[in-house]
Amino acid sequence: MSYNKVLIIIILMGGFAFNVSAQDITKGKKIYETRCLVCHQADGGGVPNMNAPLDGASNVVGTDIARLVRIIKKGYSERVALDGFYYSNAMTANPDLKDADIANLLSYIRTSWSNKASTITAAQVKAAGSKK
Ligand code: HEC
Repeated sequence: MSYNKVLIIIILMGGFAFNVSAQDITKGKKIYETRCLVCHQADGGGVPNMNAPLDGASNVVGTDIARLVRIIKKGYSERVALDGFYYSNAMTANPDLKDADIANLLSYIRTSWSNKASTITAAQVKAAGSKK
């Protein structure tokens, strides 16, 4: 095969991989807009003292995926300090979301606004969900 053909194949494969993840993030954004935006806002900034920000939140871009999965599934009102601040509202549970939905949602919030963390797969959500 010529060098050019190899190059074209590599470019096509790269484009395919990009489209797959871009589509998942678009799906995650839709879920965010219907279920999360009302509290965490379009810019992920939250509402001071009331709803925690997701943009720039160390936990959101962190490595404890099991915690993030648990919060989304079961809701959250532990009232512990998050990056030094407390929030008074209670986050609602989302028990009906599938592993793939949660993966798309986490991929969206971890890569949006100023967040630049890794995307998350449904297999990672499944593995995390089986932990306590
Ligand atoms: C009714 C308002 C509300 C809705 C809707 C909501 N949240 Fe929350 N969320 C909160 C509040 C309030 C907290 C902080 C609770 C606390 O500190 O006890 C929080 C915390 C979080 C955290 C932890 C942040 C950190 O720094 O550890 C994540 C992640 C999160 N929410 C994601 C989501 C996602 C994703 C959705 C949509 C499926 C969502 N939330 C829907 C109010 C909401």
